Amino acid sequence: MQKIIILDFGSQTTQLIARRVRELNTFCEILPYNKYPADDHDIIGVILSGSPLSVYAPDAFLTDLSAIRGHLPILGICYGAQLISQTYGGKVESAGTREYGRQQLHVIDAKNPLFADFNDHSQVWMSHGDSITRLPEGAHRIASTETVENAAFCIPDPQPIFGVQFHPEVFHTLQGSLLLKNFVVNICGSQQEWSADQFIETTVHELREQIGSDHVILGLSGGVDSSVVAVLLNRAIGDQLTCIFVDHGMLRKNEFASVMSDYKQLGLNVIGVDASEKFLTDLAGVRDPEQKRKIIGRDFIEVFTEEARKIKDATWLAQGTIYPDRIESLNITGKIIKSHHNVGGLPKEMNLKLCEPLRWLFKDEVRRVGRSLGMPEHLIGRHPFPGPGLAVRILGDITREKIRILQDADDIYIRILRETGLYDEIWQAGAILLSDVRSVGVMGDERTYENPVALRAVTSTDAMTADWAHIPHEVLARISNEIINNVKGVNRVCYDISSKPPSTIEWE
Ligand code: XMP
Repeated sequence: MQKIIILDFGSQTTQLIARRVRELNTFCEILPYNKYPADDHDIIGVILSGSPLSVYAPDAFLTDLSAIRGHLPILGICYGAQLISQTYGGKVESAGTREYGRQQLHVIDAKNPLFADFNDHSQVWMSHGDSITRLPEGAHRIASTETVENAAFCIPDPQPIFGVQFHPEVFHTLQGSLLLKNFVVNICGSQQEWSADQFIETTVHELREQIGSDHVILGLSGGVDSSVVAVLLNRAIGDQLTCIFVDHGMLRKNEFASVMSDYKQLGLNVIGVDASEKFLTDLAGVRDPEQKRKIIGRDFIEVFTEEARKIKDATWLAQGTIYPDRIESLNITGKIIKSHHNVGGLPKEMNLKLCEPLRWLFKDEVRRVGRSLGMPEHLIGRHPFPGPGLAVRILGDITREKIRILQDADDIYIRILRETGLYDEIWQAGAILLSDVRSVGVMGDERTYENPVALRAVTSTDAMTADWAHIPHEVLARISNEIINNVKGVNRVCYDISSKPPSTIEWE
C-alpha cells in the first residue's frame, strides 16, 4: 500500500501532519528522523517535520537525505525546510526574535504545483526562531510573507524538493490542507486508497491469515477502541473470539448492564464478570490516588487471568492499542520519551501472542472504522473513560455509598449534555465527588452539610492538551439544579475551568 513517511525531528505538531495526510485517504507513518526505511518500496513521498532545535546547533538532529533526494518528492516543514537548506548549500540564521502567529502568504510562483488552486495572501501560521537567509543550490523562492522572504522554496529536480517555513498542518494555516493535498496527491501521486472500508477489508483478511483456527481473548472496557477491536475480530473469526468484560464496581450508572446488552446485540461472545466485591474490599480505606490505581490494576489482572485461564485453547490476546500509543516521540535530546507500549502485566506463563489490529489508527479513524462496521453511534461516540473508573473521581476513600452518589450526579450531567447536543462537541466529561469537603447549604427549612460535586468537561484532540469546555451558563444552571435537587448527599456544584496543562483532565 502506498505510504508517506513523516520523519520526526521532535515537533509538537508531527502527529498533526500525520492526521492531515490520513484525512487525504493516504496511509502515512511517523518515524524518528534518523530511521528512514530506504528499502520500503511502498513509500511515495517524505515529509520532514519541524523541531524545537536549530539546524546549526551542535546538538541538532541531522540526517542523511541522500537515500531520499532524487528518489522521492520531499516536503520540509519549518525545521525540515531549514535542514534541506543547510544540507544543500543554503544558510540558516537566527531571526533575532521568535516569530509566532499569523502571516499572509504572497505566492510568487503561482504555477508551482505546491500552490495549485491557492489564493494569494492566504493566512499561514508561523512559529520559528530561525530563518533561511540563503536558499539551497538550485532552489527558487515560491512564496514570501512581509517578514519572511524565503517562506517557501522549490528545488525542481525530477523528484522535487519543497520547503515551507510555515506550518501547513495547523488549523490557522487556512489552506494548509490544500497545500498538503497538492503535495501528497498531485506531486507524490497518492491514489487515496486508505479508507475505513479498505482498512476493514484488508485487516479482516490479515486477521484470518494470522490467527487461522486459533482462539483469541480480548478484554473489553466499554470504550471505543476495545469495542471496535471486538467487532472487527468477530467479523474475521466469529466464535474463535471470547471477550471478557470485568465490572470493578466503579463504572458509570447502569453501564455494565447497558454495555453488555450492546455487546450481545453486536453478536459478540462476551463473558461479563461482576468482581465489584473484590475490588471494593481491597480498596477500603485507601485514599492515595496512585495506590488506588495499583490495587485496581493488580485486581484487574487477577480477575482477567482467572477468566482467561478458563478458555483453555486461547493462544492470542487482542488489545485495543491505537497508533498514538505507539508513536515514539522524541524529546529535545533526541531520546525517545514514549517507548513502544507493551502488554500490561499479564503473567508471562500464559504465553499469549499479541494481536493489535488498530495499531495504525488514530482515534478518529477508529471511530470511522466502527461506523463502517455498523456499530451503534452511542458506542462509537462515547467519551474516553479512565480504566480505574470512578475511583479516580472520588477524592478520598471509596465506599459503595459514595459511588452511588457520584453515579447519580454523573448520570444527570451526561444526560443533560446529550439532551442539549453538547456531548458530541466535548472530548470528555464527568463528575467528581469531593468527598473530603463538606459545605453548608439550606434545603427547605433545613440546614445541610454535604459534599460538593465538581463538573469537568474538556475539548481536546488527543488528551495530551485540553481546554475546559465553554458550556453555556443556562445548561450549567440546569445541571446544577437537577443534581442538587435529586442527588441526596450533594448540596453544591462547581464547574472546573482549568486547562491542561497545567491541570490534568482527571482530578486524581
Ligand atoms: P489526564 O488526567 O492525565 O488524562 O489528563 C488523560 C486521559 O487519560 C485518561 N486517564 C486514564 N486512563 N487509566 C486509564 O485507562 C488511568 O489511570 C487514567 N488516568 C487518566 C483520562 O480519562 C484522559 O482521557
